[in-house]
Amino acid sequence: MLFHKDLYDSVKQFVKKDAIRFHMPGHNGGTGLSPRLKRDFFRLDVTEFEETDNLLAPQGVLKDAQVRASKVFGAGQTYFLTCGSTVGLEAMILGACPKGSSLLIDRNCHRAVISALILGEITPVFLYPEWDADNHVWRGFTRAQVERALSEHPECAGALITSPTYYGVCSEIQEIAALLHEQKKFLLVDEAHGAHFAFCDALPRTALEQGADACVQSLHKTLPAIGQSALLHIGKNAIVSYENIERSLRLLHTTSPSYPMMTGMDEAIKTMQGKGAKHLRTLIQKCEDIKTKIRILNHLTVTDEATLDCPQDALRLVIGFEKLGISGRSAAKVLQEQYGIYAEMADSHYVVFIISAGNTEKELDLLESALEELATEQPADVQPQPLDLLLPPIDLALTPSAAFHAPRERRSLSKAEGRICAELIASCPPGAAAVLPGQRLTAEVLHYLQRQEGVTELSVVKE
Ligand SMILES: Cc1ncc(COP(=O)(O)O)c(C=O)c1O
Repeated sequence: MLFHKDLYDSVKQFVKKDAIRFHMPGHNGGTGLSPRLKRDFFRLDVTEFEETDNLLAPQGVLKDAQVRASKVFGAGQTYFLTCGSTVGLEAMILGACPKGSSLLIDRNCHRAVISALILGEITPVFLYPEWDADNHVWRGFTRAQVERALSEHPECAGALITSPTYYGVCSEIQEIAALLHEQKKFLLVDEAHGAHFAFCDALPRTALEQGADACVQSLHKTLPAIGQSALLHIGKNAIVSYENIERSLRLLHTTSPSYPMMTGMDEAIKTMQGKGAKHLRTLIQKCEDIKTKIRILNHLTVTDEATLDCPQDALRLVIGFEKLGISGRSAAKVLQEQYGIYAEMADSHYVVFIISAGNTEKELDLLESALEELATEQPADVQPQPLDLLLPPIDLALTPSAAFHAPRERRSLSKAEGRICAELIASCPPGAAAVLPGQRLTAEVLHYLQRQEGVTELSVVKE
């Protein structure tokens, strides 16, 4: 087999561009990492000894670090994760949901939630967010929506909601938690994008503060932490079982957690408690300045709490280019090629910039001038693309677990209509399921898969 390049060479090629990074991991090429972590990174890569403790049975320094984190985040119990929020979501759901139970889940949830359904033989009841057609984003969930869903599906043991979303949009967590608790049901929150909320009161309140029973946070998305660093928190008054979640975590988590990552998490939390919080305020102010400038220029659009009418992460810049006649994807490409600016994600409408604690004011100044220039010079060779955010509704014919384990066969899309899907297709970002095991493949779903995911064949349950 012919290999073109070492992986090292390819990644180095990107690194050499010296890109301005508004994407994860939030340490921004090391800018946000503590100097001592950078200095000692490889020497800190050790294993379990008396001095270094053991993450899966912590009794010493790791136990202390987790307790420290739990105090900072206001949790009853906090677990360090070196396999991202992915493993946290799986453990949290498996630990909270009895086998065979039903769970109310956000239609746009991350693929790890679907993995947990498969592993735990859990039946999903889908909660569909409202589409905000004026702003081209999914709205957050309200208490009324959850109340309606629960009255139709009282069998659900609890709910799992993603808040904030990739677009920084938050749900009515406090009201939803209260509603669920009135009914003796639990609320789990995928707060992967909201680890920074705990460090600044100009940001939305955390899920735990608002009464969630448990949540996960990817430190690497918004804080100065190494890729895959994440936390699983259980609330102080949680109605979910600590023991069950911990058991599930031990089942799923690597037995060789990375010490540079774990020390890095402790360092990141300390940094945020120190100068980090002040730095977030500065970045928030800078983002506000950019938003104001965009509104004055009137050639770009930007989402905010006022237009969305719900809490939004002030550090998630979601900028639309439709007034210039270009898609978010085209705009992201122009930003990369002409300005060396790399955003986290782009869709047919928006470019999504993660402004993390590792970013600097200077980088935001460069983004501001690039946007200003873009707003006046329309690139000529790009065309608007069709909207790709409207994921088709789900008609569940089998549980995800039953379909995943059923005998299956490959089918071309043209011969798959009416069949039951046997696989999960969910591109990242944002990682929401375009289709999941157990879903009936309607013409609309197949059209979406072909147009948006470029799928030509897939696995279906054998008839
Ligand atoms: C909403 C959401 N939840 C969970 C995850 C998984 O997080 P991680 O990459 O830390 O495993 C992601 C990843 O992008 C995400 O966007």
